[in-house]
Amino acid sequence: MADRSLENLDEETRKLLDAIAASETLEALRDAEPSLVGKRSVLAAWQKSLGAMEPEARREAGTRLQESRRRVQSALEDRRQSLAKEDRDRVLLADRLDLGDVVVRDVRAALGAGHPSLVAVTQRELEDVFVAMGFTVAEGPEVETDWFNFEALNIPPAHPSRGLWDTFYVDLGEPETVVLRTHTSPTQIHLMEEAVASDSLPIHSVMPGRCYRRDSPDARHLATFHQIEGLVVDESMTFADLAGVIESFTRSYFGSGVTSRLRPGYFPFTEPSAEFEVTCTLCRGAGCRTCSHTGWIELGGCGMLDQAVLEAVGIDGERWSGFAFGFGIDRCAQMRHELTDMRALVENDVRFLEQFS
Ligand code: DAH
Repeated sequence: MADRSLENLDEETRKLLDAIAASETLEALRDAEPSLVGKRSVLAAWQKSLGAMEPEARREAGTRLQESRRRVQSALEDRRQSLAKEDRDRVLLADRLDLGDVVVRDVRAALGAGHPSLVAVTQRELEDVFVAMGFTVAEGPEVETDWFNFEALNIPPAHPSRGLWDTFYVDLGEPETVVLRTHTSPTQIHLMEEAVASDSLPIHSVMPGRCYRRDSPDARHLATFHQIEGLVVDESMTFADLAGVIESFTRSYFGSGVTSRLRPGYFPFTEPSAEFEVTCTLCRGAGCRTCSHTGWIELGGCGMLDQAVLEAVGIDGERWSGFAFGFGIDRCAQMRHELTDMRALVENDVRFLEQFS
């Protein structure tokens, strides 16, 4: 038997290899394994028969047998791995989430329900309130020279009040001469210069826009934020006119229950100056974390135009006087919609955005 078997060794080995290749699943391979390489396999039978052989023939047959077993074992292992990989791929394919498709569908849904951001909506509402009060709307650049952002506003270089505005400088021209505007007040300067050049005083305008400060964002501050500036240049303007405009604005934008108060303040471009606060809408004045338990939220500043500013733009301070104010649009959105944290305005969390669609 030993001789006859060994004659067939190559053929039998090929049969085993074919059987392995023909196993279509891991299960089939596992079931076939005992008959391929197990105790009852042809290879095992041959192995047993070796004992009856002459030493020389046994050595030779043993080597051939070992080689066959090695080929069968390695074919078995290869087949097992490739079947396992096929299985894994099948599972992955079945479980695959087509994210590309999901994103496209979401974008389409969002486009269908698209709407301006809460800040944009707030800006428009604020403009409407002021337009109803007789103001026009103007805009100015976000990148300004030091002159517009500071000097013309009576803030000379190295003036201590520059510390009020943590400034981003733009790498253009001489160092520290071009800035991202830290407030919308420079737009006042543009407007007054234009009015002087076109001889079109008086001015009653509001100027909304984006501003930048080197600030760490927190519940009430963003490094990129929005202000709306107001400017009135007319004859015989008084502080009472300013206070009246602020209070009418507060009532028409925030509705009943919210009032304004002016507290003495300091701004280089107005004299006298005041800080403009409104009732905290989150606690209705009772005091809460957002208003630091004062019941009031500071919206911005205001005051009567400083003579130095009128002089800088060439307006005759004997004839003309006026007032200005500037406050945060994002802060208005926060108060109007009772947001405890202003950062929600820029995080673009759909759960937030959907509430204002
Ligand atoms: N520009 C000031 C700021 O951002 C706010 C401000 C104060 C604007 C007084 C004014 C003003 O027009 O008169 O802090």
